[in-house]
Amino acid sequence: MDGAVRFDALIETLRDRQRTMLAGGGAALVQRHRARGKIAVRDRIDLLLDAGSPFLELSPLAAYGLYNNELPSAGIVTGIGLVHDTPCMLIASDATVKGGSFFAETVRKHLRAQEIAEQHRLPCIYLVDCGGAFLPEQDRVFPDRDHFGGTFYNQCRMSAAGIPQISAVFGGCTAGGAYIPALSDQVVMVRGTGRIHLGGPPIVKAAINEIVDGETLGGADMHATVSGVTDHVADTEIEAIGRLRTIVLGFGALRRAAQPPFAPVPPTEDPEQLTSLVPVDLKKPYDVHAVLSRIVDDSSFQEFKPAYGSSLVTVFARIHGFPVGILANNGVLFSESALKGAHFIELCDQRHIPLLFLQNITGFMVGTEAERAGIAKHSAKLVYAVSNARVPKYTVLIGGSYGAGNYGMCGRGFRPRFLFSWPNSRIATMSPEVAATVVTELRRQSLKGAADDDVIAELDRRTREQFEEQSNPYYATARLWDDGIIEPAQTRDVLGLCLALSADEARDTAPRPVYRM
Ligand code: COA
Repeated sequence: MDGAVRFDALIETLRDRQRTMLAGGGAALVQRHRARGKIAVRDRIDLLLDAGSPFLELSPLAAYGLYNNELPSAGIVTGIGLVHDTPCMLIASDATVKGGSFFAETVRKHLRAQEIAEQHRLPCIYLVDCGGAFLPEQDRVFPDRDHFGGTFYNQCRMSAAGIPQISAVFGGCTAGGAYIPALSDQVVMVRGTGRIHLGGPPIVKAAINEIVDGETLGGADMHATVSGVTDHVADTEIEAIGRLRTIVLGFGALRRAAQPPFAPVPPTEDPEQLTSLVPVDLKKPYDVHAVLSRIVDDSSFQEFKPAYGSSLVTVFARIHGFPVGILANNGVLFSESALKGAHFIELCDQRHIPLLFLQNITGFMVGTEAERAGIAKHSAKLVYAVSNARVPKYTVLIGGSYGAGNYGMCGRGFRPRFLFSWPNSRIATMSPEVAATVVTELRRQSLKGAADDDVIAELDRRTREQFEEQSNPYYATARLWDDGIIEPAQTRDVLGLCLALSADEARDTAPRPVYRM
């Protein structure tokens, strides 16, 4: 019961923080935005999507806690929803947040949305209202490979690959902000408020001493009738959004969301109970089967090798009618669990069954006995199998994600299609307690007995503090290490949406052996 209260508090905190994000740049700026006849970013998205469409918003808490919390959602909303039944990736600037300009996290979020779109061949719809790179942060936004330029590279490559790139321009779009529509396959501009210019009036004045107003320089009518930069002009935002929907109809062959091969069946065990069953304290053990039966269809699964390597639970199951092979931690990973995991991954890969990793892992077993039994090579087999599986992979951090356990259980480096976290999760090389022990011991050794107890105690305190702060899920989600923090009870529905996006993909059918590890 105590666990339930504390987990509920985590859920409350999550909802509070998400609510704060929804307020965008704050009441005054939202008011100014509306007074200009403009619609709030999430309302634009609601108007664009089919009535009743789900919207899987990605990383709503990006940049949380950074820049004095003045960059809600990193100034951009991204997510997947249906337009005329076609799953689309929406990438929408929030002009109430620093004029929709790009900070490092904005770029990362934009790139991540494009990566997901490219992997799943989702048309991209850009709702642009964006002042380009946020100039004081230009060194973290502009020059490198995965900076602003990378978003345009992605746009060009996706367009060439036949993944539609469509833009509507709602506000002043300068420099990088101008390239988003300029590189799109089709563009709509709103008359009066929409502007596209590589250099806005201040840049033009500074560069060539020409004084010109924004409308003359980059207004919708000029671009529709003179430059040809836009293909359509709309008198209102609503009309522009309607035009976007019509453009989607013009794609020709519409790609519908895949239907599940089996009828979806809700779990018999209530997913709402997850918060009372899963302890907030990661040191408290619990049986992960209780989590599985609250995520999968009919609470029913077929367990593979239940009596062997049982600290890793491997099951065949379905989520919303889509088959899935699940690997879930039930304690530290031993050689046997790693070998079982590798075997199971190969089976799923051969059968074209997507993989779901539920991470709650302190790491692989350490110690003389484990090393002599070859934990390094056996754990490597799991990492190898995870890396080479051809089927889509999904990861949810339902507890700790520490050390090489993160690797073997398909952490971000192993390219899961989506990675979500629960609000109780922690991610770091090791826990604060272990880190403090290791760091202080290393310092003691290098000082060879000359260690001052106060200095060591201070080092211990600082290390704990650093690891506490940096392993927090809000620290992680702010930096885009995941695709968002979700509530345990939402996990099944979120995964159902993700699985549907890859379900109709052509599979690599080249023969692949299954080695009994
Ligand atoms: N770099 C730094 N700050 C920017 C910015 C940018 N590219 N774009 C907007 N901002 C800031 C503004 O300074 C302002 O900050 P403040 O609230 O702390 O005063 C805030 O974002 C809102 O901008 P504001 O101009 O009041 O909003 P607006 O809706 O009237 O106009 C723009 C939005 C984008 C049209 C306008 O801000 C603009 O033209 N920005 C500069 C664009 C530019 O030259 N980009 C070049 C990038 S390489």
